[in-house]
Amino acid sequence: MTSKKAGRLVVVSNRVGDPRKAAAGGLAVALGDALASSGGMWFGWSGKVVEGGAPGEGELHRQRAGAVQLVTIDLSQADHDTYYAGYSNQALWPAFHYRLDLADFAAGFFAGYQRVNRLFARKLAPLLRPDDVIWVHDYHLIPLADELRALGCKQRIGFFLHIPLPPPPILAAIPGHQWLMRSFFAYDLVGLQAKSDADHFARFVQEEAGATALGDGGFEALGRQVVARAYPIGIDVEEFQRLASSTESRQTESLLKKQYGHRRLLVGVDRLDYSKGLPQRFRAFRELLANYPENRDSATLIQIASPTRENVAAYDTLRHELEGLAGEINGDYGELDWLPIRYLHRVWARRRLPALYRCSHVALVTPLRDGMNLVAKEYVAMQDEADPGVLVLSRFAGAAEQMREALLVNPYDIPATAQTIQRALRMPVEERRERHAVLLKQIQEHDVHDWSRRFLDDLSSVASRPL
Ligand code: G6P
Repeated sequence: MTSKKAGRLVVVSNRVGDPRKAAAGGLAVALGDALASSGGMWFGWSGKVVEGGAPGEGELHRQRAGAVQLVTIDLSQADHDTYYAGYSNQALWPAFHYRLDLADFAAGFFAGYQRVNRLFARKLAPLLRPDDVIWVHDYHLIPLADELRALGCKQRIGFFLHIPLPPPPILAAIPGHQWLMRSFFAYDLVGLQAKSDADHFARFVQEEAGATALGDGGFEALGRQVVARAYPIGIDVEEFQRLASSTESRQTESLLKKQYGHRRLLVGVDRLDYSKGLPQRFRAFRELLANYPENRDSATLIQIASPTRENVAAYDTLRHELEGLAGEINGDYGELDWLPIRYLHRVWARRRLPALYRCSHVALVTPLRDGMNLVAKEYVAMQDEADPGVLVLSRFAGAAEQMREALLVNPYDIPATAQTIQRALRMPVEERRERHAVLLKQIQEHDVHDWSRRFLDDLSSVASRPL
């Protein structure tokens, strides 16, 4: 995958997918390509939690997936609760999504986070070769490079943050945030989703660590150097379009056409997460029905909300709020033969998504904050070029920096969002075609392969850092 011939690629992330399985998603497919071409290794959590297991310990499992070696590790219940459910998802996730009000910085969470990062480093280090190139992913593993360096690892190590990086005043509210700085400076290259995230990084390291800017994303501080740049992630457009010919997708398409052929379909596909702005989206949809009555008995919102992190309280509260709202809206506006909202709280097979996107006149991608949001790109990939649907996209999704031809909304402004949805539903076909053509070209040119190639090329060419 890399143009300069580098060593073996080692990917490290909390979750490990089998790159050969379509269900694993576009990222797994993309990393799978880069991994396979170098006979690489993917290291991460096995997904298994061992009740009564010793904290900081875990059994390793090795498995081959074609040319790729998958190495996974079990987590003890205590490590899972503090590292994964705790610090990763109740401290970093909310804080990085600008939700300090939901963050819980319990000391035990941070201890578990450090312990598991140390465990990963301890198990991974003996498996590494001197010329490996290591690519660490996401907020669960920010301190991993620092832990590996402490064990003497001198390999090139890159990091990609899939979620947003908030502005310095929010980062500075994280208790003991100095560890963040040290962690970032243990990498050779830090990749962020959006330009705004890279700007926040630059300001944070300069304001909080007195880093010197070296130009081109380079910074020096703490006797170390790091390069931090934006690498907006994309999708594998062709792989996703191919899914449309699966049996599940074709069956879903004929069912949707039969059920909703005479209605206007709107679609939302999200994990049930407070960052996704789902209550605001439901309220905007209610406002649409209230203010533009021609949509009654017609506009139908299919909202898939996949359950996620269910043992975290904030997700349970959100679930109740959404169930209440969907019930209220359906109760107020529904007819014997029409329900405005179809709210599906379950995981949907990835293979069925292309049909859902293709049959929908409008996609609502309206997170309050999102690193990128690949649903926006998948929706565009699946439209009929002659009669495409319209993407309504939050200005607070990373994707908004690239997808300017979508209809951009502020999801907090419910009346304005309703008005924009109405505009999307009424948009003439010429304008839809023009906007879609630009968006499609954008996602084709900046696909996930281009993303991983650019990151890995830069990782192998950034100046090597004094340790
Ligand atoms: C986000 C994160 C990923 C994470 C995914 C699913 O996209 O950036 O790192 O894997 O959500 O969340 P989960 O907690 O189920 O792994």
